[in-house]
Amino acid sequence: MSEGRFITFEGIDGSGKSTQARLLAAFLKATGADIVLTREPGGSPGAEEIRRLLVEGAPDRWSAETEILLFTAARRDHLEKTIEPALARGATVISDRFADSTRVYQGAARGELRGLVDRLHDAVIAREPDLTFVIDMDPAEALRRGLARQSGEDRFEEMGEGFQERLRAGFNALATDHPERCYLINGARDPDEIAADIAHLTVNR
Ligand code: ADP
Ligand code: TYD
Repeated sequence: MSEGRFITFEGIDGSGKSTQARLLAAFLKATGADIVLTREPGGSPGAEEIRRLLVEGAPDRWSAETEILLFTAARRDHLEKTIEPALARGATVISDRFADSTRVYQGAARGELRGLVDRLHDAVIAREPDLTFVIDMDPAEALRRGLARQSGEDRFEEMGEGFQERLRAGFNALATDHPERCYLINGARDPDEIAADIAHLTVNR
């Protein structure tokens, strides 16, 4: 059996990734495909435990270096327990965030740590998605959407709009650098219209 496809959604907080990941999963499931919808940080029991350490508490709870190790540890468990077994059986895996988030978020917070992010990725993750949808969104609008959720998981969202602007630029640059797998999607539209574009791109690739 051939390996399944690995599809990821990336973008700033509140850009509509979870909504679009869910809509794409529903669309593909309706065609009878074997779909695993997952997310980061999290996506396996161990990684969900690490997620709680990362998203709750004060913004200065961890140093940037510790944070990179925690995100990478969570990703390794997610990869071993959820992503790789699903791809091996031929399923399509759709993940709400993956390694691009670490490159952009941790790189935007402390630019000089991008080398560490890349070395750790090569050493213990060493996998890229087949297809990545980067949802582009105005940070002011995305922040309003995100804070409106009041999930108690707003440690990163509390970092403010200037940080979100750097993230947006980081995701756009990443999409430009990886045209072989990334599509930049305008997120400031009706969710169904965005979903139709994404479904079309997924099927016709
Ligand atoms: P993310 O996963 O990127 O943080 P979500 O999909 O959770 O974003 O969306 C954040 C909030 O914005 C949710 O309340 C969601 O219902 C809403 N939302 C998502 N997509 C759109 C859209 N295209 N237009 C308006 N609101 C949206
Ligand atoms: P997520 O639950 O996807 O937040 P949202 O739905 O608001 O987009 O992710 C939680 C936070 O973790 C989010 O602010 C992005 C951040 N994050 C990183 O900083 N690095 C990473 O590698 C990942 C996966 C997430």
